[in-house]
Amino acid sequence: MSSKIVLTGVKPTGTPHIGNLLGAIRPAIELGHQVLSEGGEHFMFIADYHAINAEKNPQVLNQKLKEIACVYLAFGLDPNKSVFYRQSDIAEIPEITTILYAYTPKGFMNKAHAYKAVVEKNQMAGKPDDDGVNMGLYTYPTLMAADILAYDTDVVPVGKDQVQHVEIARDIAGIINAHYNKPLLKLPEYFLAEHVAVVPGIDGRKMSKSYDNVIPIFADKSEIKKAVFSIKTDSRPMEEPKNPDEILVYQIYQAIAPQDKVLEMAEGLKQGKLGYGHIKNMLLDAVLEATSEAKEKYDYYMNHFDEVEEMLALGASKARPIAQKTLKRLKDAVFGR
Ligand code: TRP
Repeated sequence: MSSKIVLTGVKPTGTPHIGNLLGAIRPAIELGHQVLSEGGEHFMFIADYHAINAEKNPQVLNQKLKEIACVYLAFGLDPNKSVFYRQSDIAEIPEITTILYAYTPKGFMNKAHAYKAVVEKNQMAGKPDDDGVNMGLYTYPTLMAADILAYDTDVVPVGKDQVQHVEIARDIAGIINAHYNKPLLKLPEYFLAEHVAVVPGIDGRKMSKSYDNVIPIFADKSEIKKAVFSIKTDSRPMEEPKNPDEILVYQIYQAIAPQDKVLEMAEGLKQGKLGYGHIKNMLLDAVLEATSEAKEKYDYYMNHFDEVEEMLALGASKARPIAQKTLKRLKDAVFGR
């Protein structure tokens, strides 16, 4: 990643859980630190324009935006080093998007995952293909391409579901560069972090809000405890030696606890010395341990959001001039100025 420009966008999705923390939040922040230490640049933004496709309630949207901003700060994103901003503060992004539209084959949008998933769902339910589909959702990858191309991004770290969107951004940039026969836009690459943890939820499926199987990170202790204690177990007695890998509590523990504690749990299960109550308490402790310091910071920022607003404004003031340059380059080429 040396001296590369790395950009990550996050949608404000609301109350974060252990799966988000280990699968997205921590890896993104660590990657940011790494990029910066190697002399690169790190952009991190909240994709609020993308969020309005699905969320139409301003209060809910605002709350989610606050939460996601504070979560990243709480887990160590440094807004003085990373360029941390809100998508909707960069007026050039929709302008760039409009230019990209003219070079984006409609077929790219037809085949984009986010849109196709809704169409498939509609078909299963016997509804018209485009039921509930707005143009924001349909053209989602073009806006995302503008997010990426505006800052001459080299690398976009993504989860599997976003790979295609980065490829679309690259293809659009390639079309424009080919048309004008000059490198107007940098071709971005995606970076798929293979080792990133997929954390199982309390019912054993992937932890996800849509499955209602999450362990929240910044809830009250009682709520976290309730989630941990509802993790699926069987009725085998404590004394029966167990294979740790078959035990859901252990699988989640592995993702969050330090190595020596993980070994301790594994041994205890194998030897029939730890019961389900014990291991759930160990997991609860591990969750609290991994989050308590961040929770203090999170609460502070949520209660002093004016400070966060200043950080976002600083980020926007760094991001905008770059987007302005890209926009000018595009306009000059497109309009022959
Ligand atoms: N589509 C991304 C998601 O759903 C969010 C996003 C918007 C993004 N614009 C981006 C991610 C640009 C990386 C780069 O998670």
